[in-house]
Amino acid sequence: MCGIVGYVGPRRVVPIVLEGLKHLEYRGYDSAGIVFVEDGVLQKHRSEGKLANLVEIMDEVETRSRIGMGHTRWATHGAPSERNAHPHSDCTGELVVVHNGIIENYIDLRTMLREKGHVFTSETDTEVLAHLIEEYLDGDLRTAVTRAVQDVEGAYALGVMWLQEPDKIIAVRNQSPLVLGVKDGGGSFMASDVPALLPYTNKVIYLDDGDMAVLKADSCEIFSLAGGAGQDRPVQEILWNAGMAQKSGYRHFMLKEIFEQPQAILNTFRGRLEVSTGEVNLPEIGLSDEELQSVSRIFLVACGTSWHAALVAKYWIEKWVRVPVEVDIASEFRYRTLLLDESVMVIPISQSGETADTLAGLRLAKDLGAKVISICNVLGSTITRESHGTIYTHAGPEIGVASTKAFTSQLTALFLLTMYMGQVCKTIEPEVSQKLAHGLFELPAVIEEVLPRLHTELEVLAEEFVDSRDFLYLGRGIHFPIALEGALKLKEISYIHAEGYAAGELKHGPIALIDKDMPVLALTPPDEVYSKVVSNVQEVKARHGRLVLVGDENNKDLAEIADDCIFMPPVHPEMQPILYTIPLQILSYHIAHLRGCDVDQPRNLAKSVTVE
Ligand code: G6P
Repeated sequence: MCGIVGYVGPRRVVPIVLEGLKHLEYRGYDSAGIVFVEDGVLQKHRSEGKLANLVEIMDEVETRSRIGMGHTRWATHGAPSERNAHPHSDCTGELVVVHNGIIENYIDLRTMLREKGHVFTSETDTEVLAHLIEEYLDGDLRTAVTRAVQDVEGAYALGVMWLQEPDKIIAVRNQSPLVLGVKDGGGSFMASDVPALLPYTNKVIYLDDGDMAVLKADSCEIFSLAGGAGQDRPVQEILWNAGMAQKSGYRHFMLKEIFEQPQAILNTFRGRLEVSTGEVNLPEIGLSDEELQSVSRIFLVACGTSWHAALVAKYWIEKWVRVPVEVDIASEFRYRTLLLDESVMVIPISQSGETADTLAGLRLAKDLGAKVISICNVLGSTITRESHGTIYTHAGPEIGVASTKAFTSQLTALFLLTMYMGQVCKTIEPEVSQKLAHGLFELPAVIEEVLPRLHTELEVLAEEFVDSRDFLYLGRGIHFPIALEGALKLKEISYIHAEGYAAGELKHGPIALIDKDMPVLALTPPDEVYSKVVSNVQEVKARHGRLVLVGDENNKDLAEIADDCIFMPPVHPEMQPILYTIPLQILSYHIAHLRGCDVDQPRNLAKSVTVE
């Protein structure tokens, strides 16, 4: 979703803003713009499409300006066009705004402002903000912004500049992420996410909802929008560096992140798993053994790929902890009748920690008295700050829009949680724990070894599916969510229509689609439903479907049923969902690449979905 970058300080602003926006490209966008103060005027440049178009425009512009803001826009209100790109101005052209989020009452505000004579030049909700602040301007920008946002309903992160106070940028946060960067020796930054700041500073301040910051070259003050009083927010040091968010020789971030999975999984269980005894330690949960033992039900709440992680975890938790688990898509959870109380544990799962629907679900659950323990990859993100406890995944920054290493790290964290609860609730015997711990411990090395082979083999197999229009993914039991994830991965990055189905459901509908042009990929690991899935795929074969099976290398007879087999090394049965995800990611990657798709930034998608 939209990306904001702002800077005021001793250095030239344009390169800083453009570089910062480049690091936010992963969020997804369809136009870009920049504004800075030059010779006493605000210079605004905007372009449709990729950031490279804006960079090309800026190559021709001579400027030494040291204050400005930039924006990448993911269209919500109004088409992706230069006219709708941010920054947006008021009637005088002296005030500019960049914005991430949605102004829900923008139609009422626009009507009111038009009646007062304001003239609008775009279809966006954002432009309303520029005119609204103009309406309240009476010599002091901070006061005008404070008043204006009181009229606004919705979620927003804002950057505001006014030519008559040319030394400052005002930043406001309400339910959309915004982080400040500070640098010893001067210079203040703001951005939608940390990667935009890392080339310049690793000292950041996370704003809270209702915070307003005044950024100047030599200071950065934070106030509460409610009361105007100064706010003290801690400066946090980010431990990862800009290099970790680079492609490091890989063709795409997605490919790099697929190959980083052994390390990401290892980093997620390292220090938490005692392999020799099978013991798991998760002090960050912050719940006593008694509190965990009294949990009557668990709700897992998430969106997209994280929702698939939740679906897998349901199988683990119900099997090993014997507590009933419900899994909800966050955008549905927030609008249904929720029967929650203090005996319920709610687990929001989010890579970014900023997904608006997941955050809303978390807040509802807290209000109803539930215990909220999140699974998240981003330190200090809103979801982590609002949860009672957080189990961090340690996947490192994930830049590719299609989630890969964050997903397998989420599964790792959820498996650790399962083991931990099983130990506390005494539903897992110590010797079983030991075996599970061994299974997890051995997984990164198995994945490390199989990755290069899968990469090469699946590049060849992918050629067969470059022109496919549809794809069916089948799985059963704990591998049903993996089939859903495989289908999601393919449609996200290759734009091939793909569906995941529970293999047993095939005969209740999708079988009508099967003919020689319908590729069907089925997950057939050696688990308790192996023979059932093999029977299901025979039904595909009988109707001449194009069948790919992903199975264990010891089940070579699968090759007799399938047109193609992807053979996987044996692992502990509980680790199979993690391992079997990997060939599906790689196959999608190659198909998308061969089709010439923008693998890292698929059309219309955003990495961090901060609107409802
Ligand atoms: C977007 C991303 C997906 C992600 C989903 C949930 O749709 O493109 O990759 O799975 O949001 O994001 P979260 O950060 O909450 O895991």
